[in-house]
Amino acid sequence: MNLARQIEQYLPRQLLKLVRDISGQAAKLEQRIYLVGGVVRDLLLGYPNFDLDLVVEGDAVKLAQQVAETSQAKLLAHHRFGTAKLRYENFTLDLATARRETYARPGALPAVTPGTLKDDLIRRDFSINAMAISLASNDYGELVDPYQGKNDLEHCLIRILHPGSFNDDATRILRAIRYEQRLGFELETQTAQLLKQDIPMLDTISGDRIRHELELIFKEKLPEFVIQRLGELGVLQRISPFLKGGGWIAEKFGKARRLKKPSQLPSLYFCLLIYSFSEKDIEQFLVRLNIPAKLSRAMRDTLRLKTSLPFLDKPSRKPSEIYYLLREYEPVAIQANALASESPTTQRYLQLFLTKLRYVKPSLNGEELKRLGISAGPEMGKVLQLLHKAKLDGEVSTKADEKNLALSLSRSQKDGR
Ligand code: CTP
Repeated sequence: MNLARQIEQYLPRQLLKLVRDISGQAAKLEQRIYLVGGVVRDLLLGYPNFDLDLVVEGDAVKLAQQVAETSQAKLLAHHRFGTAKLRYENFTLDLATARRETYARPGALPAVTPGTLKDDLIRRDFSINAMAISLASNDYGELVDPYQGKNDLEHCLIRILHPGSFNDDATRILRAIRYEQRLGFELETQTAQLLKQDIPMLDTISGDRIRHELELIFKEKLPEFVIQRLGELGVLQRISPFLKGGGWIAEKFGKARRLKKPSQLPSLYFCLLIYSFSEKDIEQFLVRLNIPAKLSRAMRDTLRLKTSLPFLDKPSRKPSEIYYLLREYEPVAIQANALASESPTTQRYLQLFLTKLRYVKPSLNGEELKRLGISAGPEMGKVLQLLHKAKLDGEVSTKADEKNLALSLSRSQKDGR
């Protein structure tokens, strides 16, 4: 099968030109070059994917160096791994020397030696990700599909390439379900059976690698379906006995996506994922996944704030009370609680803090207070604090109000001495 037409149709013109240039340079070096992995799968499905992975039968670093010299690309080369990244203004291209992999023990990173394209494809996770397209001029666009990936695509199947696949790399358990849910595919019968059988192999995977897979899941359009299915299969519970993936998660993830700031979404998903944990359970999870400090803080804050929510479930709370309770929590933890809470009053207060109260500051600064005769140090600190509280509670609105209040506060402080 030839996919030259799909390449021309789906790749942006600029990217297409780069691919042609690289293919020309590879020919001069007598190296064969192929598009591989996700982009081939997506070209066959007709989905846009501009993340190009290229495999070179030869020396990918040498080729990338030559390409970088004759174009505007920035080069990032890893000689040890035989890989290189070419960074252009709008795209990056990943080049890798075709390789053979062997796993010394389950879950370990594989030992790598140079190999053929076929070696490179058999080391991959699923048949639908183990196809290549030749970019050589004599057979440009020819599909290389030694493991029947196209047939599996047509039958909507996720299939591993050999029975030891999940055992070698149990992150593939998470990847299989991610693709299954993204594409609306099914696990092929033996793959499903081995996946279930090999769930305990997740214990061989480092926290960083499991966390990375969860991050990839959280980049999906509908991560809740992946989480739900992982829960049904018992995969989540293997990562942490306290994890669940039911309808609650689905509802809250959906709501989270309708919020404005998508950059915070992955952290918000993490905070919602652990919402049912106790403050003790979370510690084990943070260690297992080697969660970085800022996100750990947000997840701990989520649970700590959860226990304080009853304080906010009273319609008569003053803005300053809300502010003093919430100021010490990470905003994403507050957002998670706003999504999780079933009380409209609590939700309203949490949103009020996030959208307004946290930005409220007195208009008068230290210099202006000095000019009013208030001396720097504890006196000024106290006045600023009371001005802030008055502003939060709407007791002052103009700068003149603040000046009057500052003077009267300063007077009463002096009188009280
Ligand atoms: N791969 C693998 N086993 C893994 C991770 C990756 O075999 N544990 C291979 C797959 O062939 C995959 C390729 O490396 O296609 C690139 O990996 P990645 O960028 O994670 O996936 P994509 O296929 O590009 O898919 P996505 O659309 O999710 O980015």
